[in-house]
Amino acid sequence: MEIRNLLRRFDGKAVVNDVSLAIKPGQVTCLLGPSGCGKSTTLRMIAGVEPLDGGEIRVNGRQVAGDAGLVPPEKRGIGLMFQDFALFPHLSVADNVAFGLKGPRDEKRDRVRSLLERVDLLRHIDSFPHQLSGGEQQRVALARAIAPRPGVMLMDEPFSGLDNRLRDGIRDETLALLKEEGAGVLLVTHEPEEAMRMADEIALMRNGRIVQSGAPYNVYTRPVDLDAVLFFSDANILRAKVHGALADTPFGRFLAPGIADGMPVDIAFRPQHVRIDFDRGGSGPLPTPTDGVAARGEVVRARFMGHESLVEFRMDFEGAILKATVPSVFLPKPGTVMWLTVRRDRCFVFPATG
Ligand SMILES: Nc1ncnc2c1ncn2[C@@H]1O[C@H](COP(=O)(O)OP(=O)(O)OP(=O)(O)O)[C@@H](O)[C@H]1O
Ligand SMILES: [Mg+2]
Repeated sequence: MEIRNLLRRFDGKAVVNDVSLAIKPGQVTCLLGPSGCGKSTTLRMIAGVEPLDGGEIRVNGRQVAGDAGLVPPEKRGIGLMFQDFALFPHLSVADNVAFGLKGPRDEKRDRVRSLLERVDLLRHIDSFPHQLSGGEQQRVALARAIAPRPGVMLMDEPFSGLDNRLRDGIRDETLALLKEEGAGVLLVTHEPEEAMRMADEIALMRNGRIVQSGAPYNVYTRPVDLDAVLFFSDANILRAKVHGALADTPFGRFLAPGIADGMPVDIAFRPQHVRIDFDRGGSGPLPTPTDGVAARGEVVRARFMGHESLVEFRMDFEGAILKATVPSVFLPKPGTVMWLTVRRDRCFVFPATG
């Protein structure tokens, strides 16, 4: 499926603005972004339940929306699964899954049985939706959506109604089934962890536009701007001025190519990329090319978070507060003097905004 330059306006304001995406068979693309950025509107246009103000959508090379008009939703070869996936309450589990199926009765029955077996619900084949738990209903909805073998599956926050304990398991099962069936998937979510877990490719959306797309690793490690850094995780930010394409900070100098002299930059780094060293008679580790210069700070507080510890420091420079995370248990007392360095290859330098 190919989406080109999709546009949708409400009250003169573009809520989906020039969105282009390609969804490949067997691949999961996550449309990721904050609330209100236009994710659901994009999905609804692709599904065919929302008109377009511009652009086009092609499935298998055939235009289903664009200047040639609209193909109705049920003729697009697209499967849908939304947050409020509403099963038909008066139909049995088997009839819910069979709902979109065409063809001979025994073929339909075999497909329903094999899918219900696949999602481990064969024992509920004759149950009604109200007799199932939320997680079980979710699996029926997935089986129903995938039953007609759609080339493309659209999923809008399909796991948000589930409690945390269920969610990871159902995400992984869903992913495995979608991969087996070979559908191309466009999954909408506002949770970076969900996108990282599910996606082959992430398209990061903001204010109606896709600001960055790529494999999860690339989007996480090479964010396009400060907001993209902050969307995925907490980050420390240092403000500095540029001289001769270098920004001077208490952690040493950072390259700031293409930024004019005197301009401010923000240098961002994630808490897990801060290294902590003990004070050795009033000094810290010697400068190195990979870690730069060490800066002195005092522990403000340290908290145990389970898989890591989060330590906050008040730095000697400008009263800055910096956060560092350390795997496992590390709980130094408040007031302890320590020296911080940052992984220079994990720092991002952006022209300062605001
Ligand atoms: N029918 C409509 N009429 C007017 N404005 C609309 C309509 N549908 C959506 N909008 C507006 O378009 C913007 C994008 O909405 P959309 O539902 O696509 O966001 P979203 O990214 O899915 O957010 P969320 O994560 O909260 O679901 C919002 O500001 C919303 O208020
Ligand atoms: Mg939405």
